[in-house]
Formats: sequence, structure tokens, C-alpha cells
Amino acid sequence: MKINELFDLKNKVAIVTGGADGIGKATALLLAEAGAHIVIADLNVEKAQKLVEELEKKGTKSLAVQCNILEDQSLVELVDLTVKTFGTINILINNAGGGGGGRENPFKISIDDIKRDYELNVFSGWRLSQLCAPHMKKSGYGSIVFTSSMSSRNASPNMSGYGGSKASVNHMVANLAFDFGPEIRINAVGPGATRTVALASVLTPEIEEKMLEHTPIKRLGTAEDIAGAMLYLASPISSWVSGQTIFVNGGGVQTLD
Ligand SMILES: NC(=O)c1ccc[n+]([C@@H]2O[C@H](COP(=O)([O-])OP(=O)(O)OC[C@H]3O[C@@H](n4cnc5c(N)ncnc54)[C@H](O)[C@@H]3O)[C@@H](O)[C@H]2O)c1
Repeated sequence: MKINELFDLKNKVAIVTGGADGIGKATALLLAEAGAHIVIADLNVEKAQKLVEELEKKGTKSLAVQCNILEDQSLVELVDLTVKTFGTINILINNAGGGGGGRENPFKISIDDIKRDYELNVFSGWRLSQLCAPHMKKSGYGSIVFTSSMSSRNASPNMSGYGGSKASVNHMVANLAFDFGPEIRINAVGPGATRTVALASVLTPEIEEKMLEHTPIKRLGTAEDIAGAMLYLASPISSWVSGQTIFVNGGGVQTLD
């Protein structure tokens, strides 16, 4: 295969959850460059619509869908609307997620806080994968990518719900690879500290300095750094890669403690 064919997503249909900002937005833009039609599924439909206008200007067929990944009906409607608009689904980026931030002191939070981590990071992506998989199988080309985290590997204080849920993502994709293959590959990308709105809410200059001490490539990540790994896993170039978690972290470890 030629180099451009290895990254060719022409006429493939991609859903990106949390696609209106941060890692999701950078991923949507890159998948569009590779030729995919893009569905931005986000809580913030105004931002999603703005991105769709930007994509349409560049000639990408795209759709903004208001979606709360915590609501089953929202996920069902997302899949229905995508299939109604584009006829199929080939790529699913299960990116929206959250929790952690060094705020999970077990003496101060409740089991509901931990349940929310798992609902955000694990259950929603599992359910959306279940809904998309039949369309992917039928089309003959499917790639599902979860946004995991370096927190799935690091051990830090006050991160048990987030870290545990992201670790669950890594093992879940390894198992689902058996259920979904051969037509569908399923993987995860585990970002280190990546400059987004979510990171800005917990980053201080002191924490950043400490993070860089443990990072061979002396900077924090950008959303585009993570999007590159997403594109790799979504594209034909990774056609023998399934069940894996690829960490993108500047070669190091960036924790909040
Ligand atoms: N930024 C980092 O350093 C970092 C590191 C590791 C992992 N991650 C993971 O990357 C993913 C994206 O994070 P980010 O930093 O780009 O976040 P972000 O805050 O920059 O963007 C998140 C997007 O998701 C949307 N969103 C939030 N809750 C939603 C919901 N319930 N349903 C639908 N959309 C929702 C928001 O509106 C926003 O557009 C998350 O899963 C996060 O855990 C981020």
C-alpha cells in the first residue's frame, strides 16, 4: 500500500464524542484531513456546531449532535442520526470522559462519585461500541478508539476512581478485540498531561515544573499530539493492531502529586 492509502479515510464515517473541544476536536480535524465524514457528539452543541461549520468550509461532510454520553437514549439517538445521515458508521472515538484531577479523597467522596467515573469512562464507551458495532461489521471496516489515560498506569493519591476506570478501559479493549474482530479493531490511546481546558483546571506552574522533570521530551502534550495516535489507530496503517493501549506521554510520567 502507498503511504497516502495507509492513512486514507475517504468516505469513512467517524463519530467523535467530546469532539467539540480538546483532544476530541483535534482528532476530528485530523480524521477530516484524512477524508472522513465527521459526527461531533458533544454536550456543548453550540461549540460542536461551530466546529462543523469550520469542517464544512474545508469540504468535510459533518454533523453536530447534542449528546450526553451518560444518557442511554442520547447514545441511541446519536447512532440513529448518524446512520440516517451518512448510511453507516466506520470509526468511533470514545473520547468524552472525566473525573480524577486529584480530587478523589476516599474519606471525603461517596460511592456515587466513583460510579460516575466508571459511567463516564467505561460504561458509556462500552454501550456506544455495542450500538455502533453492527453497522461497522456490516460495512466491513470498523475501528473503535477509547481515550484512556496515563492515570491507568500511574498510582497517585486521590485518583482511585479515575485511575481505576481508565485502567478498566485498557483491559476492556483487549477483551472486546476478540468479540468484535475481524472486521472491527478496538484500541485505546493513553495521553499524558495534555494542554486542554480540563488540564488547565488542575495545572499550576509548580506542578508543571515537576511534571517536566520526569518528561524526556521537555514539554507537555498538545491535543494534536494525541490526535496523531488516534489517526494511526483509525486508519488502514494499523490494520493488524487491536486490543492495545498506546501511551502518548513525551516518554515520561506527569502526575499531579
Ligand atoms: N487533557 C489531559 O491531560 C488528559 C490526559 C489523559 C486523558 N485525558 C482524557 O481525554 C479525554 C478528553 O479530555 P480533554 O482534556 O480533551 O477534555 P476537554 O475538557 O478539553 O474537552 C472535553 C469535551 O467533552 C465534552 N463533554 C464533557 N462531558 C460530556 C458528556 N457527558 N457527554 C458528551 N460530551 C461531553 C465537553 O463539552 C468538551 O467539548 C477524556 O476522556 C479525558 O479523561 C485527558
